[in-house]
Parts: sequence; structure tokens; C-alpha cells
Amino acid sequence: MSYATIQVRPVTPRLGAEISNIDLTSTLSNQQVDDLHSALAEHQVLFFRDQKLSLDQQKTLGRHFGELHIHPNTPGPQGHPEILPIHADANSKRVAGEGWHSDVSCDTEPPLGSILYLHTVPPAGGDTIFASQHAAYEALSPAFRSFLDGLTATHSGDRSYRRTNRILGIDDRDRVFPQAVHPVVRTHPVTKRKALFVNEGFTTHINELSEKESRAVLDFLFEHSTKPAFQVRFRWQPHSVAFWDNRAVQHIAMWDYFPQVRSGSRVTIKGDRPI
Ligand code: SIN
Repeated sequence: MSYATIQVRPVTPRLGAEISNIDLTSTLSNQQVDDLHSALAEHQVLFFRDQKLSLDQQKTLGRHFGELHIHPNTPGPQGHPEILPIHADANSKRVAGEGWHSDVSCDTEPPLGSILYLHTVPPAGGDTIFASQHAAYEALSPAFRSFLDGLTATHSGDRSYRRTNRILGIDDRDRVFPQAVHPVVRTHPVTKRKALFVNEGFTTHINELSEKESRAVLDFLFEHSTKPAFQVRFRWQPHSVAFWDNRAVQHIAMWDYFPQVRSGSRVTIKGDRPI
């Protein structure tokens, strides 16, 4: 694929591309937005360097791709409800995204994508790892793919968000977190490629199977879908940005840098009901 305004260098043949020749702090032209949309569909996660974004600029960037999502558990800073703070330091007891997941897949209409900006990174570590759920699906045998194609799974925010709140000492007894039923295999609305859509963070069971069958199939899928063969690993620098497609990848944040500081912010773009 060729792009009119940006340079795109694939990081692996399966997913991930470094994007240059663009300034994300300025308002983008329609052609730039189209090019980024196409690159995201082709490469599933895009990486940018040296983009010193303010919170307002990051929100403007996100709004080029859709309405911004407000996180169901973690509040944004004063005046910025659409911002999800991402921060860890010597006082942290947990970090966001420590397990494999697709962002907020427990929503009825899970987010299309997320744009993470980090201004402060540890001297080593703190990488984010992404796994292509297209590649994971396509690597399965035709018979197993057909079996999965007809199934649905329940995704719930309960376990993940209540664990966070318990660790942070937040009383969430009166809170109700999102829960939704999605197909186990979804079709990407832009590329029409199929992708696995279950993850350890939010998927609790496969609805059409017995409890034991569901456990066995999910355990297999959680392991299969995050294999190194389907991964790309992003090494952050100060002022790097990663823009990923939650319909196509899962990701995990490595917390291997305690007690160093890693800090920034995420905006999340609303998506559609998976089909
Ligand atoms: C997340 O959005 O899940 C956090 C990712 C990261 O901090 O690398």
C-alpha cells in the first residue's frame, strides 16, 4: 500500500509499523487522517517518535478518528474526563494493562482504538507488547476456526476493575461495571479480516459450552493468541506515541522497571458492536 503523506516502515511482517513525516501536535488534514486510518488497518498498531503532545492536542488527535471514550473505572484529570492517566512510580501497587487484554472489551461497543503517549519512561524496560489477533486466528486449523466462528463469549469488567480498586483501597461496592456478549471471532469492519476476540482480562466464559469445555477452550485461546510469533514489542522513548486497533490486537504493559517512573496519558476512541 502507498501513502500520500506519511512514511510507513513495517516492524514485523504481521503487525506494527513506525510512522514518520507527520506532526501529531498539529491539526491533521483529511489526507493525513485517511493515510493513518489505512496504515492502522494494514499494520494494526502504529508507532511515532518525538511527538510532544499536550492533553488537549492528544484529545484533538483522537477525535480525528471518532468520539472519545470515557473509562468506566478510572477517572481522568480535572477538566479531561476523556484522558486515562498511565502512571507508575516507586509508590505504585499496580499498573494499567498488566495482563493481556483488548481495551474495555466488556463494553457493548468496545473501543475502536487507543492512543498512548508517554512523556517519561524508565531507563530500561516498560515496553508494551502487542499480539495480532488476525494472525492468531489465521494460524488455527480450518476445522477449529469453523468451530469458533459460531460461538459467543461473555466479557465482564468486574474482576479487572474490582481488583484495581481493591489494591488502591477504593470502595466500589455500589458500582456496576460493564458486561457484554461478543462473537469469539469478529470481522474487522475495514479490512473484513477475521480476528480472535477473547482475552484474559475480560472474557469470562464461552456461552454455548459447558463450564469445563469453556475453561479448556479459553485457556487454549489465551495461550495461543499471545504467542511470540504474533507479537511486536515497542520500546518507548520520551514523547513516543503508540496507536493501536483494539479490534485487531491484544496488548500487555510490562511492569519490569519498578521503582522507576513511567508516565503519560491515553485517549480511547469509541467503536462499534463487534460482528
Ligand atoms: C494500556 O493501555 O493497557 C496500558 C498500556 C501501557 O501502559 O503500555
